[in-house]
Amino acid sequence: AAGGEKLITEIQDWNRYLGPGVDEQPYGAPSAHESHVVRRNVAWLTADPKSSVNFTPLHELDGIITPNGLCFERHHGGIAEIAPADHRLMIHGLVETPLVFTMEDLRRFPRENHVYFLECAANSGMEWRGAQLNGCQYTHGMVHCVMYTGVRLQHLLEEAGLRTNARWLLAEGADASAMTRSIPLEKALDDCLVAFSMNGEALRPEQGYPLRLVVPGWEGNMWLKWLRRLEVGDQPWHQREETSKYTDLLADGTARRFTWQMDVKSVITSPSPQKPVTHGRGPLVVSGLAWSGGGRIARVDVSIDGGRNWRTARLDGPSFTKALHRFYLDLDWDGSELLLQSRAIDEHGFVQPTKNELRAVRGENSIYHNNGIQTWHVKADGTSENVEVS
Ligand code: MTE
Ligand code: CO
Repeated sequence: AAGGEKLITEIQDWNRYLGPGVDEQPYGAPSAHESHVVRRNVAWLTADPKSSVNFTPLHELDGIITPNGLCFERHHGGIAEIAPADHRLMIHGLVETPLVFTMEDLRRFPRENHVYFLECAANSGMEWRGAQLNGCQYTHGMVHCVMYTGVRLQHLLEEAGLRTNARWLLAEGADASAMTRSIPLEKALDDCLVAFSMNGEALRPEQGYPLRLVVPGWEGNMWLKWLRRLEVGDQPWHQREETSKYTDLLADGTARRFTWQMDVKSVITSPSPQKPVTHGRGPLVVSGLAWSGGGRIARVDVSIDGGRNWRTARLDGPSFTKALHRFYLDLDWDGSELLLQSRAIDEHGFVQPTKNELRAVRGENSIYHNNGIQTWHVKADGTSENVEVS
């Protein structure tokens, strides 16, 4: 511009003076200008923070990896504080040799690295009866995607030696909630991991330090944190978390049980209620996340008119099975109102349903497994709101 750009023509403080040296922060932290990028909770959702949840700030993130300090937390009995030297993992039940592993023992098994999403079955659970929470952090933020390092559960079970009648596994956490879940042995032997690292460093205490179970594509509740016990059996245990919780009440009063796999789902993270458009008309990057417990995402469609017309979004970044996928739609925004939606399709051809299609099958009594299409009403001033279209 004719007046000149002072940030270019004048020397700034950071250009004039030396900055802090190395080791100022031996464990780095984000820029002070990013202090708004934090996990947040919804105060009225739970009675006590010891059995509660907070949400990943999806609207502030890009790519597919969730930084460790921003992974949503869901604890039923607070965070267990465990010294690794005091942690043990026991395998017993229908095995030839019951075993107890130290953390050091586990690190002597062949190690693998995998990127997987974890989604709480209750993600979007507040939205069954209509649009409720204003922001993708709250409507969809019970998901994170991390690279895990660990050992295959299969190797540990083989070490103990499975009896011929072994069919099920009970996994138990060491925290005060004494959480337990039954897992079919077929899944345990397929792709489950016992993980000690996330994104290259040790698990965070919030995520189950020093050891957690990784159950790719299946509901977050089964990913036992602070994993201490694996019992092998010939039938499921019908514990609290698979009877009174984590079941889906249908319209006719019966409930679906053992609905483990997370369905194909997506959400536009920007623009969204917490991420308004501030630059006016012209080029607008619409961005979001898609995932499926069934595998990879094949395609994501985006609508700007509430689902009447669809265009194919651009998937960018790595496409790992059972991981988050990043999509973009590069729009030339004319400044008019939008009804923004995204619809994911996975590699098996499963299509994310509209909320009404979902309700037609599932009723409105459910909490868990809501994968309906989300709508953001973007106004001419760039702000947006959580709405539903019929
Ligand atoms: N494991 C134990 N031991 N205790 C818990 O409270 N919460 C479960 C699961 N594993 C839980 C647990 C639930 S409901 C979810 S959604 C995930 O952990 C959350 O994992 P995160 O805290 O890493 O996001
Ligand atoms: Co959960």
